[in-house]
Amino acid sequence: MSKKFRICTLPGDGIGPEIMEQALRVLDKIGELYDCEFEYDEELIGGCAIDAVDNPWPEKTEKAALDSDAVLLAAVGGKKWDHGEKRPEQGLLALRKSMNAYCNLRPVSIFEPLIDSSTLKPDVIRGVDLMIVRELTGGIYFGRRNTSSDVEGAGVNGTKGWRAYDTMEYSEYEIERIARYAFEMARKRRSHVTSVDKANVLDSSKLWRKVVHELGEAEYPDVELDDMLVDAAAMQLVKNPGFFDVILTENTFGDILSDEASMISGSLGMLASASLGSKTPIFEPCHGSAPDIAGQGIANPLAQILSVAMMLRYAFDMPEAADSIENAVDEVLKAGWLTRDLAGEGADESKILNTVEMGDKVIAALK
Ligand code: IPM
Ligand code: MN
Repeated sequence: MSKKFRICTLPGDGIGPEIMEQALRVLDKIGELYDCEFEYDEELIGGCAIDAVDNPWPEKTEKAALDSDAVLLAAVGGKKWDHGEKRPEQGLLALRKSMNAYCNLRPVSIFEPLIDSSTLKPDVIRGVDLMIVRELTGGIYFGRRNTSSDVEGAGVNGTKGWRAYDTMEYSEYEIERIARYAFEMARKRRSHVTSVDKANVLDSSKLWRKVVHELGEAEYPDVELDDMLVDAAAMQLVKNPGFFDVILTENTFGDILSDEASMISGSLGMLASASLGSKTPIFEPCHGSAPDIAGQGIANPLAQILSVAMMLRYAFDMPEAADSIENAVDEVLKAGWLTRDLAGEGADESKILNTVEMGDKVIAALK
């Protein structure tokens, strides 16, 4: 009997549906090659869900996600929904919370054929291979917040006295479980964790640092652990990114540093991510919905396809199939094939593929 997996697919907005289609073609081919079956349940999230049912996170989607072995998400958002009260991003945050996906993995490595498309010098980025382990269900994103009109301050300097706050709170429990994940991950890599915080200023960071060190000393003495303040980490990422193996950090710092780190690889269009926790794991590209090129059939499907590789590796325990996809992408790039976004100035026009053609190339290179 071949293995069967149920996947909740969430194409979302913008280029989402186009790139999802290619990722699922790749997955179907993997099913043939590795004798397993994938069943898809497509649901709404984000802007398209606001349009259809006036809710970025419909109950039906939540139920389907909870009933699946994995969630494969493309992207949400777009100008169209920027000014409404309901925003597409609320769907994404609700998905993470509902799946209790507290651990976000964002690997960054260099695709040698694309090394010149980074704005950083090739010598600085060659060989970089790092993993950001970002806490995903705590901190400012989900903390207490409020916007109010402050009576006392009202009218001062001609303002109306509005005041708003967000809070960054972390419990020992939340810190320990994400730190554990980072240490385990480091053991499978180069055994080096850099914990990023702002312990010179923030209480939440002081606790973060304490808990990470206690866990490291007690259970992971074999893993090298160092701390870096988030401002210094931002600098080190562009100065000497090869320093990093596993970067462990809280939600907001991880959000900012992961966009910065993506530029090391040259293109946000190549990066995949996994969000894991106690319920259904989520896999998605790091990039957004690129509404400016949606519907033209020119979007780069590679990050979505690489998200499928992460799904095979982290949710379905199929490392060979995951390798097969990653190697296929490598091979296609080595042969000089590109999508429009990856093509630098003076690129050979005859090597530029559209979304479906890129899907075809990857499928043909699968082993
Ligand atoms: C990301 C995104 C989201 C985040 C937004 C869309 C809410 O930027 O996945 O990094 O901030 O987490
Ligand atoms: Mn982000």
